[in-house]
Amino acid sequence: MFRKIIKIAGMILGIVVVVIAGYLTKAYISVNGRRNTNYAVDVQQVPISSDSAILALGGRLAKAKGCTECHGADLGGKVFVDDPALGHLIASNLTKGKGGLPADYSTTDWVRALKHAVNRQGKPLLFMPSHEFTFLTEQDMGAIISYCAQLAPVDRGFPEGNSLGPIGYVLTDLGQLPLLPAEMIDHQRPLVKEVKAEISVAYGKYLSTSCQGCHRENMKGGEPLAPGFPPVMDISSSGRPGKWSDEQFIATLRTGKTPEGHTLKPDEMPWTMAKEFTDLELKALHLYLNSL
Ligand code: HEC
Ligand code: HEC
Repeated sequence: MFRKIIKIAGMILGIVVVVIAGYLTKAYISVNGRRNTNYAVDVQQVPISSDSAILALGGRLAKAKGCTECHGADLGGKVFVDDPALGHLIASNLTKGKGGLPADYSTTDWVRALKHAVNRQGKPLLFMPSHEFTFLTEQDMGAIISYCAQLAPVDRGFPEGNSLGPIGYVLTDLGQLPLLPAEMIDHQRPLVKEVKAEISVAYGKYLSTSCQGCHRENMKGGEPLAPGFPPVMDISSSGRPGKWSDEQFIATLRTGKTPEGHTLKPDEMPWTMAKEFTDLELKALHLYLNSL
């Protein structure tokens, strides 16, 4: 009897192992196929300038849009995921130092990365959130590129390269990990030239692209983004920020403390990025959120 149970348990375990191995193989093949897809995109040009006001705008946007969070404060590159199950992912060195971008990295290459999430070889960039940057105006994208292209060289290399772990493959296969932003982008859509910087719903909507990834398109928040993270709060008119004055909204995003006394952790709610928005931008953002 006992031996029979062991035998049946062994058979079940064997079947489970075969099924898991089969699924893993399927996930590896399918995700690797997607990583090797070639994207032949028509790259639009954006205005590049060495004007100090444009460079200052580009520098501020590099912080507000999170470039410095992933690529490091000096944009000299950073390992931003290092987990044997998930993977080892490097946000590239964006300077022209050793280990950085090649000396002939052109404006076209920059736009291909920022608007399309595609590299020079036509392959999709991993995890680079260009599905958000693709909505930048020509003007703002131009300012960011103008700023990044003149950075002081930083010598920092990552010879180990990117790799994806088993959980990384599975989550990507299940559509739970935005590994390939190139798949989420409309590559034909031309860039918008400019959105007027004023306290308007339209300008607030433009700025809210930075919040959408977490707070969702309707800004009503939802499920946590990853296990161990708090649920994402509703920041539309039906949420708490709907009851705040503009001053309270601005103070919350500058200090991480809400009027109700709740402290927002920068790794859960990145107010350290949002604090780079100007007063005018935050007022436009608040106006837009309250219109939802
Ligand atoms: C969520 C993290 C994250 C953010 C935010 C981010 N990047 Fe990236 N970026 C990456 C990763 C990861 C790669 C490398 C992708 C790869 O090697 O496949 C990358 C690659 C790039 C590349 C391509 C380099 C090459 O080898 O061709 C450029 C250019 C770039 N990022 C610029 C920016 C700029 C400018 C910003 C801000 C507007 C930004 N990134 C924001 C993660 C990020
Ligand atoms: C990386 C994900 C992420 C991004 C990007 C993000 N948020 Fe959040 N946000 C959160 C999470 C998670 C919470 C809840 C944090 C908590 O419970 O402590 C939150 C909370 C908030 C709160 C507090 C709401 C309350 O009821 O107290 C405000 C305000 C807010 N976010 C505004 C914004 C704005 C504006 C943007 C865009 C500029 C933005 N967030 C971008 C994840 C994000």
